[in-house]
Amino acid sequence: MGTVSRPVTSSTVESMIRHRSIRRYTDESVQEEVVEAILRSAQAAPTSSHKQAFSVVRVVDPVTRRSLAAVADDQEWVEKCPVFLVWCADLHRIAVAIERLGAPMVHENVEEFLVATIDTTLAAATAFAAAESLGLGGVFIGGLRNDPDAVTELLGLPPLVYPVFGMCLGYPADDPWLKPRLPLELVYHRDRYDDSEYVAALDDYDAVTHTYYVEREGENRVTTWSREMARKFAVSQRPHMRAYLESQGFVFD
Ligand SMILES: Cc1cc2nc3c(=O)[nH]c(=O)nc-3n(C[C@H](O)[C@H](O)[C@H](O)COP(=O)(O)O)c2cc1C
Repeated sequence: MGTVSRPVTSSTVESMIRHRSIRRYTDESVQEEVVEAILRSAQAAPTSSHKQAFSVVRVVDPVTRRSLAAVADDQEWVEKCPVFLVWCADLHRIAVAIERLGAPMVHENVEEFLVATIDTTLAAATAFAAAESLGLGGVFIGGLRNDPDAVTELLGLPPLVYPVFGMCLGYPADDPWLKPRLPLELVYHRDRYDDSEYVAALDDYDAVTHTYYVEREGENRVTTWSREMARKFAVSQRPHMRAYLESQGFVFD
């Protein structure tokens, strides 16, 4: 079997591995054509059974922006970024399509909720990579799930639609350090899941992240990745989500 030497990098890969969340932006506005190119990239992402179970609400109105920033613990970049998109998992459009046919729709299961969430996340990640390849930077905003009822009201989301996260985009006015990721060996397994090296490798990774948190520009802290995880997992995060999702018509049997 012959081996052909293939490229091991590309401008896409180079752009993706340079990713940092960007939370400050220049005043330059983003042309509508650029936003549309980003959203067309998102639409081209793989989608479960072609369901395309997501919608994007771009929020331009400054009053709504202020309210959304307040939901997200006053993250000022939500208010100030040139483009703010809310990525919504969406089974409503499918419901409309099926209802037009007078056909039944069975969606009362965890699977259809997962499908919509996965479709939305893949589309958003694709959009984000497209945006970065075009010189934009940005950050995802999970903080919208602090008060999903408020977001639903502000954006007029119908049943079977929920905001998975927001996304700030703009031209970067910031050049933060790359945040070190887990060593590849810890996330890449061959044939069988293997956690035998976790403890030793996590010690090494904690040393790397300790240096990062202490020395990075901006907000410095004495911590490690493991300690950050312990802090995050010490309390139940957003325990209101289940009741909210059920109120939007998503069912978990
Ligand atoms: C689903 C999701 C939600 C996030 N929510 C927020 C957020 O509300 N505010 C924020 O500043 N960063 C948020 N982030 C950014 C992460 O904190 C960031 O991606 C992570 O710390 C890694 O840093 P990096 O993106 O600079 O490499 C979010 C990221 C994801 C994927």
